This record gives sequence, structure tokens and C-alpha cells, in this order.
Amino acid sequence: MFRKIFVITVLVFMVSVFFALPVLSESLSGKVEVNSWWTAGGEAEGLNALIKIYESKYPDIEFINATVAGGAGTNAKAVFKTRMLGGDPPDTFQVHAGHELIDTWVIPGYMQPLTDIYESEGWTESMPQGVLDIVSYQGDYWSVPVNIHRSNVLWFNKSIFNKYNITPPRTFSEFFDVCDELKTKGVVPFVMGTKDGWEAAHVFESVLLGKLGTNDYNGLWTGGVKWSDPRVTDALETFAKIASYLNTDHSALTWDEAGQYLLKEKGAMMIMGDWTNGWFMSVGFEDYGWAPPPNNDGIFLALSDSFALPKGCKNQENVIAWLKVLGSKEGQYSFNKAKGSIPARTDIDISDYNDYLKSAAKDWQKDAISPSVVHGAAASEGWTTEYKDVITLFISKPDVSYAQKALVTAAEEYLEK
Ligand code: GAL
Repeated sequence: MFRKIFVITVLVFMVSVFFALPVLSESLSGKVEVNSWWTAGGEAEGLNALIKIYESKYPDIEFINATVAGGAGTNAKAVFKTRMLGGDPPDTFQVHAGHELIDTWVIPGYMQPLTDIYESEGWTESMPQGVLDIVSYQGDYWSVPVNIHRSNVLWFNKSIFNKYNITPPRTFSEFFDVCDELKTKGVVPFVMGTKDGWEAAHVFESVLLGKLGTNDYNGLWTGGVKWSDPRVTDALETFAKIASYLNTDHSALTWDEAGQYLLKEKGAMMIMGDWTNGWFMSVGFEDYGWAPPPNNDGIFLALSDSFALPKGCKNQENVIAWLKVLGSKEGQYSFNKAKGSIPARTDIDISDYNDYLKSAAKDWQKDAISPSVVHGAAASEGWTTEYKDVITLFISKPDVSYAQKALVTAAEEYLEK
């Protein structure tokens, strides 16, 4: 008799849990305002894939897609900051894992820990230690990483390379030989768009890496290597030479507008993060190849986009539901396939991702990893801004000695803090 009652009770319990779960998730209502700068091709598609999943799970929540255009968060970050400091926190906003998250938002006390959610969702098992580390501070996890982007990729137009029998340059000297040859053919050898004030600094990271290698490049940001090092001088001189092969309209173009040069077969090469892969997919361009920038073979310059839970945000439960979608298998699979990045989770089947992404996933496993500065992983925001400004000025007025002095001063200032 007792056994029968027990079995019935368990059955009733299971049936009620089965029916209650969907009701619980569907019972969320109201709004959620998700802030990001994902408006370019590839970026918008990735974000839309996440929104679609969220809206199908929570049809009663009104999703507010609050985007502020401008690559690398040029304009968006200022908006997030005004709202956070002004006591009107967005529900959630895009933030790079690493220093940008921890120094700007966690240490000053603006965010809520997410450790319980990490444990209940099993993310401590499904995300690798290297990723967990950059969202951790004092034993807690503080944001949910949705991807891993690679920042040091040399993209090239395949038809141009085939036409002139060119192979991807592996060293700086090969790179300049290729540039000289392309110039004689009337093709812009190297393309940049520097309109938003971060793109030149982004490219210069790859040049620094090529000259210093992973360990010493990392040392520049941790104090182990001085910015007065002759290899930094060499990197600046090399960058000045790169600037002499650029499209003349670079200061009027954003990163994706500059990509049009490759699409139209007017420009041959560009160094940009692998959101370019997402952009190529979104515009239906397939005539592209990729390689590490000169001397970057075996080095993966990494960054990760994440979202967090600000203290005092209005729609907390709905944000938590959003964060769970971001960290889920389904969310990471769909987002990254369109965005051009690889999932932060290690248990996602990417066999139907494109060839570039499959190669990036392999490199992520075997390459030496360095953190990107411009995309928030390597240094505090103040230092990153000074670095960006020095290099943006340099690209229009290359003065090696002035730039190096300014970089030394910035490092001294921020390493002391
Ligand atoms: C990066 C961001 C990427 C991509 C890129 C260009 O900072 O991490 O997701 O959006 O900017 O906007």
C-alpha cells in the first residue's frame, strides 16, 4: 500500500513538474532591453539569431533591441557609461570579457555576480578555463561570454592573388614584396577604414605581435617588457611603411566599408577581426582567403563578447533569461555561425560552420593565445584609449619617436595605477 502511494506521489510530482516548466518560462512578461553595437552585416544576423530563440521561449516579453552603431563599441560604450554612472542602468549591455568587464564595471561595484547561474547551467563544465578566467573576479563569475573572436586575420581577395600568382605573405619582407607588386598592377595593396578611431590600433596589434611574439607582446601590457624596446620602434617603422600602401580614403571609411575594396576587386588585403567573416557571409561574398598576418603564424589574438547583469537594472528576471539563452548550446551555435566567431563553449557541434570557422576553432586549440587590447581583453579602458589615440594619430602623421614616447608615458601612467 505504502509503495503504491509512493509511486503515485512521484508520478503526480513528475507530471506537474513537466507541465509547470514551460508555464514557468512562458510566465515571464514585461520587457527586456538588450544594448549592443551589433549593427553591421554578420553582427546583426548573429544578434537576430539570439533574439529569435529568446522570443520563441518568452513570447510575452517585449524585446527591445537597443543598438548604437559604430564598430568596436566606439559610440555605444559612451552611452552605456552615461547610463550606468547616471543611475539609469541598461538591463544588460555588450561588454568585452577581461579588463573591460572587470576593471570598468566589476571592481567599482556596478555588476551582480552570476556564479549561481553558472553552476545551475553547468557552464563551469562547458566553458574552458581560459574563458572562465576572463570573466572571473574574487571567486565569482561576472558575465556570460557568447563567443571567441580572433582579431589577427589577414583577409585577401582570392581572384587577385590567383591572377598575379601571389601566395599569402608570411613575413613582413614578403608582405612588402607583395605590396610592391600589387601597386604596379594598379590594385590597392592594403586596405583600412579608420573612421571610427580604433581600426589602425587594431591592425598595429598584429604588427606588434609579429615583432615581439606572444610572450613579449603580452609583457608590454603586464609590465614585463618596456615600450621603449627597440622592437616597438621597429613595429612603428613597419607600420609607417604599411601606411604608404593604404587606400587614400581610409579616414572616411568604417571597417566594413573598407571591406568593399576586396569585394570589388580593387583592394587585395586587409587585417581585421573575424567579424569580417560574418560580414562576408552576410553580403554573399565568397572570393576571400585568410592567413595569419606577417609573423603571426601560431598566434591567436583573442577577445570575447559577453553580457552582464548590472545592479539596479529594471527587468532582472528577463535579463537572466537572456543570459541563459546566450550561454546555451542552441544560442551559441546559432549566434556564432552567423557572427563569424567560434562558440565559447567547447561542446558545440560546428561541423556545418564555414571553412574559415573550422580553421579558427582548430587554431584556438593549438595556437599561443594573446589578449586583444582594442577589444578590451588586455588593458584597462583608460590605457586602451590612450594607445588607440596615439596609433590613430600615427596613421595620419607617422612620427615614430613621438608615438613611442607617448606609448611609454601611457604605460608608465597605467602600470603604476
Ligand atoms: C568588436 C566586437 C565584435 C565586433 C567588432 C566590430 O569589439 O567584439 O563583436 O562587433 O567589434 O564591431
